[in-house]
Amino acid sequence: MSSLRIIPTDKPLLGRVDVPSDKSISHRALILAALAHGQSRLKRFSYGEDNVRTLGALRALGVTIQDDAEGTLLVDGVGLDGLREPGTDIDCGNSGTTMRLLCGVLSAQPFRSRMIGDASLSGRPMQRVAEPLSLRGAVIRGQHHPTKPGDITAPLDIGPLLSGRRLSEIEYTLPIASAQVKSALLLSGLFASGPTVLSEPLLSRDHTERMLLAIGVSLVTLGTSVRLDPPIHPQALTAFDVDLPGDLSAAAFPLVAAALVAGSNVTTLRTGMNPSRTGLIDVLKSLNAHLVLAPRGSVLNEPLGELMVKQQQLRAALIAGEMATRAIDEIPIICALAARASGTTEIADVAELRVKECDRLATMAAVLSAFGVDCEERRDGLVIQGKPEGRLRAAQVTSQGDHRIAMTAAVLALVADGPSTIDDCDCIATSFPGFVATFRKLGANIEIVS
Ligand code: S3P
Repeated sequence: MSSLRIIPTDKPLLGRVDVPSDKSISHRALILAALAHGQSRLKRFSYGEDNVRTLGALRALGVTIQDDAEGTLLVDGVGLDGLREPGTDIDCGNSGTTMRLLCGVLSAQPFRSRMIGDASLSGRPMQRVAEPLSLRGAVIRGQHHPTKPGDITAPLDIGPLLSGRRLSEIEYTLPIASAQVKSALLLSGLFASGPTVLSEPLLSRDHTERMLLAIGVSLVTLGTSVRLDPPIHPQALTAFDVDLPGDLSAAAFPLVAAALVAGSNVTTLRTGMNPSRTGLIDVLKSLNAHLVLAPRGSVLNEPLGELMVKQQQLRAALIAGEMATRAIDEIPIICALAARASGTTEIADVAELRVKECDRLATMAAVLSAFGVDCEERRDGLVIQGKPEGRLRAAQVTSQGDHRIAMTAAVLALVADGPSTIDDCDCIATSFPGFVATFRKLGANIEIVS
């Protein structure tokens, strides 16, 4: 298991960098290309491990995917009736999105399948997706969750639907905003006998809705509600070509680093800017960061552009409600901004972070304390006392196997008073395989210690 050693310098971070393709969009592009009619071409695929899990799962289900190993995938769609029973368990690794989205697809099939995951994924709650799917006739059996009574976790045994049976229509209100649950239901709706009508308390990321619309599915959204009508023909989804946009959740790390390291000026290119994902941009503005956006068009209804951040003094703010939901995966790196802002930053309404790849609230509280930042852990958030003067205290911390914690700790280490070590960093490849190279390109001094 490798560690990162970060040696802070007085040099600013400078440059224009590419970021890996958007993880959420890539999962959906792979799945929908597999279910479409004809060959789709996915360009700039970035081989983050989570996305590679989805790719492997689809191959196990009989989909032919040619891969030039340089980021172009050719997916031969099998249509809505063309998936085949997998010969082995489908290993979703660390990827909750792979497992939850595929629950929607697999529970509509006339064959049996079993999904497994690593230790972290095998502790994540799955009842939130199994329950609404079972309301429409799906059969999903999991293991009793060790700490959450009434919940289940992986391995998940799915199906089969009896021959000739289809999932039924459904009208369902999600108790918490979740794009994974919403997407599982929408994907299952492609195979159902009637409409899928969903609403959620706040709008979670809407990549599935945008992509389904772009490939000809009958879907209407109204605020936080959506209705999908199942296609009449199994070959109704049209194959597509996409140049995948960059991931704002990955761009967040170089951009926040630029906001912290004196004299820095960093631009991320072709970065996805779907409004349901841009909470980080609002947070940066609320914290008085110097930020410039340049729109550069859109792909499959997904806007993208360049984002530039220059270092300047940050001010504390309240981060809660829909702004926090739209930045849910960026809360760890937002803690790094709060650590250097003048005043007290309160982050609230993010209890969901307790059931991500690790308990991100508890782990971030430990990481911040190790770097000498005062932090109070609350049930649904953190209160962080900014330390804008001088440097943070150099530290040795562990990521708990969570990619976003590992990268956040590495960014904090850039403004520490000496070399820091971040242990358990292989997980960074989950979402940002080129993280170290990108930071070196910007001028950071980072070593990989095996
Ligand atoms: C994702 C949805 C979010 C997010 C995750 C990716 C997706 O999870 O945190 O990293 O691609 O649909 P929830 O659906 O649990 O909120």
